[in-house]
Amino acid sequence: MKGLILSGGKGTRMRPITHTAAKQLLPVANKPILFYGIEALISAGINDIGIIISPETGNDIKECVGDGSRWKIKITYILQDEPLGLAHAVKTARPFLGDDTFVMYLGDNLIKDGVGPLVKRFQEGGADAFLLLKEVPNPSSFGVALLDAEGRILKLEEKPKQPKSNLALVGVYLFHNKIHAAIDAIKPSARGELEITDAIQKMIEMGNRVDSHILQSWWLDTGKKDDMLEANRVVLDEMSDASIEGDVDNSSKISGRVSIGKGSELKNCTIRGPVVIGQDCKLEGTYIGPFTSIGDGAKVSFAEIEYCILRENCQILDFHGRIEDSLIGLNVELTRSHNKPIAYRLMLGDDSKVEVV
Ligand code: TTP
Repeated sequence: MKGLILSGGKGTRMRPITHTAAKQLLPVANKPILFYGIEALISAGINDIGIIISPETGNDIKECVGDGSRWKIKITYILQDEPLGLAHAVKTARPFLGDDTFVMYLGDNLIKDGVGPLVKRFQEGGADAFLLLKEVPNPSSFGVALLDAEGRILKLEEKPKQPKSNLALVGVYLFHNKIHAAIDAIKPSARGELEITDAIQKMIEMGNRVDSHILQSWWLDTGKKDDMLEANRVVLDEMSDASIEGDVDNSSKISGRVSIGKGSELKNCTIRGPVVIGQDCKLEGTYIGPFTSIGDGAKVSFAEIEYCILRENCQILDFHGRIEDSLIGLNVELTRSHNKPIAYRLMLGDDSKVEVV
């Protein structure tokens, strides 16, 4: 069985961050989202993985992920010229997939329980496709499935106005090679994309069996800023391996689960976990509150930061204010020239410079 991770797309919902960065490389607890998907496939026993990339962000993804040797697996990159839909991505990957069964995994999704049990059920069960579903409060925003009593899928609809169930398609799909004939038989949707829901619906009409599993644990689609912060919260909440490798002075106070990377220096700081601070960071006179991740090389002084993701090498210096619920891109410089108490909620793209006067 092969793995196919979709890591192309436009990322319009995450602008301005995605003007310069692939959303699948944004960090959750200081690890790129995409790595969680790769590792989920590996722990399901899959070691031949294709990654769909776009012309805009493909090189960054290649550079960050590499050839798979760090996980001792094989990674093949597949260029999709335009983001013409999830089924179009499968079509583009056809030479890589051959006639093998495969797991398709959306590269911007996070799933708690991994995909091992699903792969096992699919391999034992004789279904032609197997979908992961989750009960959601707002099904109209998703692909929605209608099931029979045994969990077989009767019908799928993409973002229906009047959903027939509250079961949304989560970003994991297992396919027999019969999916290719179904994709060849569908036309682009009104939004101009080859929809995977249409292809699966076509499989059902062609008499194939499509089974499902309803996920009980969390699943997160990291499409927007608040989803990213929520993903960061959930992953930090479950973090068990906190370790302090950096240098923390005696006047700093650390409580809860806190990880501090090598080469980082903290002077007179208060850190309340769960928090991850990367390598070579410099923090002074600063409070870092729960559910915050700080990337390698960041510098923060005289600030309060809570429930935030700060990317690598950003600088928030002599700030004398509070930043919360914020996503701060690479190399951002944030300074302030007065010190009246104030709080900010920000989404700053890479290389931004902000001066609050
Ligand atoms: P989406 O989040 O549905 O689409 P998008 O990345 O274009 O984002 P936005 O809606 O903000 O513009 O895509 C889900 C995943 O699949 C994501 O990792 C991107 C990837 N993808 C492709 O690789 N090729 C495609 O043609 C599409 C539509 C998505």
